[in-house]
Order: sequence, then C-alpha cells, then structure tokens
Amino acid sequence: MSQQVSAVVARSKGAPVSLETIVVPDPGPGEALVRIEACGVCHTDLHYREGGISDDFPFLLGHEAAGVVEAVGDGVTDVAPGDFVILNWRAVCGQCRACRRGRPWYCFDTHNARQRMTLTDGTELSPALGIGAFAEKTLVAAGQCTKVDPAASAAVAGLLGCGVMAGIGAAINTGGVGRGDSVAVIGCGGVGGAAIVGAKLAGAAKVIAVDIDARKLATAEKLGATHTVNSRETEVADAVRELTGGFGADVVIEAVGRPETYRQAFYARDLAGTVVLVGVPTPEMKLELPLLDVFGRGGALKSSWYGDCLPSRDFPMLIDLHLQGRLDLDAFVTETIALDEVEKAFERMHHGDVLRSVVVL
Ligand code: APR
Ligand code: ZN
Ligand code: ZN
Repeated sequence: MSQQVSAVVARSKGAPVSLETIVVPDPGPGEALVRIEACGVCHTDLHYREGGISDDFPFLLGHEAAGVVEAVGDGVTDVAPGDFVILNWRAVCGQCRACRRGRPWYCFDTHNARQRMTLTDGTELSPALGIGAFAEKTLVAAGQCTKVDPAASAAVAGLLGCGVMAGIGAAINTGGVGRGDSVAVIGCGGVGGAAIVGAKLAGAAKVIAVDIDARKLATAEKLGATHTVNSRETEVADAVRELTGGFGADVVIEAVGRPETYRQAFYARDLAGTVVLVGVPTPEMKLELPLLDVFGRGGALKSSWYGDCLPSRDFPMLIDLHLQGRLDLDAFVTETIALDEVEKAFERMHHGDVLRSVVVL
C-alpha cells in the first residue's frame, strides 16, 4: 500500500518549484517512512533546482528535517514507529575502509531508501541528498534517522540535519576548538553562525566574526561573537592578528566558499593554527599562493564535510544541550513558512535576509 502526500518538486532546470502530489511507498527492508514536522531551506536545495548538482530531474527537495517515524520495514531495529527523529544525508555502511578505521564521516558507501517515490503518473523522483523532506511524508533508509529527545522543537531539530550541524561540527569536530582558543569565522550566514555557536560551546575565549554584511555581523554578536570585522572595510588577516596579540587565530573557519575568503582564512591563522574549510567552492574557482607561504606555515588546512559529524553521537548530544539551555539554536529559525512558500524563501535566501527559513508542517 502506498500513500499520496503533498510535496515540493523541482520539475526542470531553473523553473520555480511547485507543490505536487507524490506517491510514497510503504517502507521495505531497512527503510523508514517518516512524517515530516519541519524542514529548513538550504542553499543546496536551490542548487538542485538550478541543475548545479545533477540533471536527474524531477527533484523532491528538502533535506534539513525532523519528524516522527510512522512505519519501518523488515530488519529495522534502531528506530520504531512513534520515534522523533532528525534525518541525515550520510547513512554510513559500517563496512568500508573509512568506517573500519573509525572515520565513518569519510564513508565510501552511504545509502538511501532503495524504493523510489514518484509523481502520480509514475515518474520517479530524485530526493535531494537522498532525503526529500519538503513533503508531508518521505521514505528514507532507517540509518538516515536518529532518535532524539521529542521535547525539542521540530524546527530547531531539523536544522541540525544539515547547515547548523555543518557549522557546529566545523568548530568542534574538524577544528577541535578547545577552551581558551581564539577562533575567527569568515562568513556569518547559517553555517558560519553555527560555527560561532560551536566555538563558544567548546570554550573559545575569542570569537571573531568576519563578514561583508553589517546585518550578519549584528547577528553574529547576538550568537556570541566577541569581536566583529567588516571585511569590506578592513584587511582580514591584519585585523585578526591585531585582535589576537599579533599571532592570528588558533582556528579559522571559512564558511563562504570563495577564493578571496579561502585566502583570508589561510593568512588569518596563527602559524600553528588550523584552517577549517566548510564553504563549498564551485569547480572553476582557483587560488594561487606563494609556496613559501604554504611551506612557512605549520598547523593544518582541513576541509569539513557535513561537520565531520556522527549523527548518532552528535544529534542527541546537541539536542540535550539545547534543551538544558546550554546551546541556543532558536536564533537560526528566522521565519517559519508553509510548504507552498519554498520558492519565496529561495528569494529571501538569495538576498541574504535570513539565517534559515523553516517549513513547518
Ligand atoms: N567575505 C565575507 N563574507 C562573505 C563574503 C565575502 N567575500 N561573501 C559572502 N559572505 C557572507 C554573506 O554575507 C553571508 O553572511 O557569507 C555568508 C554566507 O551565508 P549564507 O548565504 O547564509 O550561506 P550558508 O548557508 O551559511 O552557507 C555558507 O557553507 O556549507 C557551505 O554550501 C555552503 O558554501 C556555503 C557556505
Ligand atoms: Zn543543506
Ligand atoms: Zn562505510
């Protein structure tokens, strides 16, 4: 028995998304059917719509989501109907070399639901990042569901499924920010804002927010940044060095994804510091650096993929901290919207008006 539900679909490259009726199969072995309660609007959804990720239209968009498990297929033991879960887009295999070496965030063999959801005419949908959660219900692999405390609001929980986890994880997992560290965050949108919150959580003494948009710097201060640098007006590496006793930051987190900000990150770190690259560049972008500068600096240059997170470890922990009042995530939900307002949310995102718009069902 399948079900028909409403969902947001990108039918063709560049065209506005539309609300459609889709067909969701019952969960097969290893799969879970999830009733979506909230799903954040992320840049990646817009990239799918623009054809920047694949040509496999039509896409079922949405991937930063939380909801309640409605049914599970054979062999599923980790989650059960009624569980409140956050969805993740990296259900790891547990078997590959990366998994066996204890680095499952580099898993070579992540998986999604095997069955396909369709339009009512039978056309198969490609779910964004293997999730597709701008929908009343979606079908995922059970491993994409992590049970968390249901006392958390679905809007906040959903954001941990992508951008907010990427930012917090960039600071605490990849960057290894420790007590007393100085941290600079370049780009203070949803991801960079979360990196600020993550750095504070890890005990950073100084958190320097860098952006070209004064509105984002004001938000960054609300999130806990101790200093702000407007990089339209000020040279970033000089400003960061000045704020850190002449040394540079222990950890610099780049959350934009452009050559100039990669360069700023490279030079803003302490000689023994760590640069964490979480902003995603496009294929044609290049950065030229004097090799002597590359050689002459110690420390580390690391990219952070999904905040190097382990959903089963990190999602429940962050939700617990949030419920205890030790991790304020409410500020990331700029507005809540209905399913049919995703196109409008893309517009607002484009203008930099929001940290996150969140569809609440
Ligand atoms: N220098 C500094 N900040 C910049 C610059 C720049 N040259 N260009 C843009 N920004 C700022 C914007 O003002 C904004 O505050 O970067 C921020 C980007 O934020 P969002 O648009 O909200 O994007 P976000 O969701 O945070 O993602 C940022 O991380 O995971 C990746 O794919 C994601 O590459 C993207 C990046
Ligand atoms: Zn995302
Ligand atoms: Zn694996």
